[in-house]
Amino acid sequence: MANRIHPSILNSNLASLDAEIDRIPSSDGIHIDVMDNHFVPNLTIGLPVVECLRKNHPDAFLDMHLMIEDADTWAPGYAEAGCESVTFHVEAARAPVKLARDLRAAGARASMALRPATDIAPYEDLLPELDMILIMTVEPGFGGQSFLDIMLPKIRRTRALAKKAGLDLWIQVDGGVSEKTIDRCVDAGADVFVAGSAVFRADDPDSVVSALRDQADLRSGHA
Ligand code: DX5
Ligand code: ZN
Repeated sequence: MANRIHPSILNSNLASLDAEIDRIPSSDGIHIDVMDNHFVPNLTIGLPVVECLRKNHPDAFLDMHLMIEDADTWAPGYAEAGCESVTFHVEAARAPVKLARDLRAAGARASMALRPATDIAPYEDLLPELDMILIMTVEPGFGGQSFLDIMLPKIRRTRALAKKAGLDLWIQVDGGVSEKTIDRCVDAGADVFVAGSAVFRADDPDSVVSALRDQADLRSGHA
């Protein structure tokens, strides 16, 4: 699969989201971080705002990252709102298989996220139910943190499990991804890259999106 760059809007101007999304037209997806101040110690936006973004950006691939408790209750609404990908945290889901099926039934790609201390091994049998695994490479909650190299073995193990099962599973990395760390993620088997501060701290965010994708393609041999 081709490499995808999904900028996270968390560190953009959240009061001007429409304009911020328009600044990154080269993106393969818009990564939207929903936080409820319970699962993580931060609070962002929820479904009413996402429904408006859906209307205002009908062609965007909306990649929802739900850092919220009670994912079973809240996640399907994002799929029903027309988001292309909905990621729940396995630590916040009571019935991840049912939830993944509900998301797919509502037309979204079903995705499951793992905090840094959560291993993939217990979830090997669930992988056929999922379209993407999000591997957090920082503790979730805030942008601008340093990439955790100790997560690289988990990315490798996840890619190996997907290969073993013959699955075309997207593996997303989120946290501290930049031109300095993306090569390591590619080498480990990731193919969907979330970059927040690396993109939005730049004067020309779209050029960073293109540069990151070129770098990933070169590294993975897609160039
Ligand atoms: C953090 C969020 C990330 C965040 C990444 O919990 O899930 O998506 O915006 O930001 P950077 O790329 O700055 O680490
Ligand atoms: Zn995120």
